[in-house]
Amino acid sequence: IKVYVPRDATALSLGAGRVAAAIDREAQRRGLRVQLIRNGSRGLFWLEPLIEVATAEGRHAYGPVTVQDVPGLFDAGFLDGKAHPLHLGLTEEIKELKSQQRLTFARVGIIDPVSVDDYVAHGGYAGLKRALTLSPGEIVDAVTQSGLRGRGGAAFPTGIKWKTVLDQPPQQKYVTCNADEGDSGTFADRMLMEGDPLMLIEGMTIAGIAVGATQGYIYLRAEYPHAHRALIEAIAAARASGYLGSNILGSGKQFELDVRLGAGAYICGEETSMLESLEGKRGEVRVRPPLPAIKGLFGRPTIVNNVISLASVPVILAKGADFYKDFGTGKSRGTIPLQLAGNVKHGGLFERAFGLTLRELIYDYGVGSASGREIRAVQVGGPLGAYIPASQFDTAIDYEALSAIGALLGHGGVVVFDDTVDMAGMARYAMEFCAKESCGKCTPCRIGSTRGVELMDRVLANVDRERNLQLVEELCDTMLHGSLCGLGGMTPFPVQSALKYFPEDFRKTVQ
Ligand code: NAI
Ligand code: SF4
Repeated sequence: IKVYVPRDATALSLGAGRVAAAIDREAQRRGLRVQLIRNGSRGLFWLEPLIEVATAEGRHAYGPVTVQDVPGLFDAGFLDGKAHPLHLGLTEEIKELKSQQRLTFARVGIIDPVSVDDYVAHGGYAGLKRALTLSPGEIVDAVTQSGLRGRGGAAFPTGIKWKTVLDQPPQQKYVTCNADEGDSGTFADRMLMEGDPLMLIEGMTIAGIAVGATQGYIYLRAEYPHAHRALIEAIAAARASGYLGSNILGSGKQFELDVRLGAGAYICGEETSMLESLEGKRGEVRVRPPLPAIKGLFGRPTIVNNVISLASVPVILAKGADFYKDFGTGKSRGTIPLQLAGNVKHGGLFERAFGLTLRELIYDYGVGSASGREIRAVQVGGPLGAYIPASQFDTAIDYEALSAIGALLGHGGVVVFDDTVDMAGMARYAMEFCAKESCGKCTPCRIGSTRGVELMDRVLANVDRERNLQLVEELCDTMLHGSLCGLGGMTPFPVQSALKYFPEDFRKTVQ
């Protein structure tokens, strides 16, 4: 009998490791043969640790399970999918899972993440096999046609980026994966790497074949040890099965892949800092141009894509550009794994086609605030994303609709705040975050953020408040237009949106 207990970091932090050990012990004590499979998480965090049992009618889910629940689950006959107070029915029928459109996360939580056999049995490597029948230009065209845009946050068309690398004269080229997922409230990259790392590996291999790159690097933040382990195991398994290496599936094509760990700087998620760090240097932003696509890692043409962008490629190749393009709205094609966190009852990852509204995400999936209080704002797109007030929760989640209200989708993280939030404090925090994480290369960011904290302190202490608020506005303008990269350039977004939508918080009486 197959029992699934996640090896995902969220599930582990909620006790999944201990639950797995308890199931193993209890099965042995009762003389039952149980095959424990450590899968990824389904992303329904309020149900973790969520364990599943494979039965003839499908997988039955139980959760959230504690070590103390385990003997009772055996007594109730959970190995046959029998009733128990923690029984959630068939996993696929869980409302919040059934209503998703999982393309990128289609296998996450279903397969053993490091088994090539399981991956292939669930449709894995169909994309690579198709890519091997196409010319490099045809592969790039398929990615362009699909409408895929960079999921790291900037939403640049992936196919156009690949074409730039393909068009460079033959030489050593690289495919790099930005897995330095640093935005607060985001965890899609981590969940993908822990739950289906072979999909990322397949996507990178296809990218390599498409642009003529023979070496790939995954730049992984060191704070993701479980993802690191899963990647290392999956890369070894792919290599052993002939899907990576000097003669991929006998095609004569070559692609090698290694993982490099970062050292904990937010700025190393900026693509040129990441390249510096990969080269063994201090993570400092490079002036663009030249673009990495032309002069990237070690001065060579380099693809820099986020985990989810690369992991979206196999399904595009396997099922066709039109299939992928069919999802979504306007210029935002395909699906986006939305990550819901903060003061929300049901946090987790929900993959949907673009076009779902913020309200649907927060209330239908999130079921409102965890505190039970009114939700006042959400921050979308990480610590440098805008605060969106409740009056705009009917905005559709797509690149254009969010940008029309002065916000950005970023990497798809949505953090919820109830009515106790102090938005002036949050504006100060944005400046403080920038001051701490600035690489120091340009003045608006290095000096501006520190001056911004000082100005906000004066505003909060009601010292010459209106004049200092005016200076904050002017400083934001300078940072927005004068910064070299997104860190300094986007810090104004949370500050300006807080000022715009919550002016009363900046003018509170000081006790
Ligand atoms: P960008 O818009 O300058 O560039 C986007 C990408 O397109 C880059 O890879 C760039 O090299 C490439 N590109 C632009 N023109 C090209 C051309 N003609 N040919 C080929 N490639 C071309 O944005 P940037 O500064 O790279 O990224 C900022 C974004 O990063 C923000 O929108 C933010 O949401 C996101 N971000 C994500 C974080 C995360 O944890 N995932 C953390 C912080 C920021
Ligand atoms: Fe460095 Fe900040 Fe300038 Fe970016 S904006 S280059 S992080 S100093």
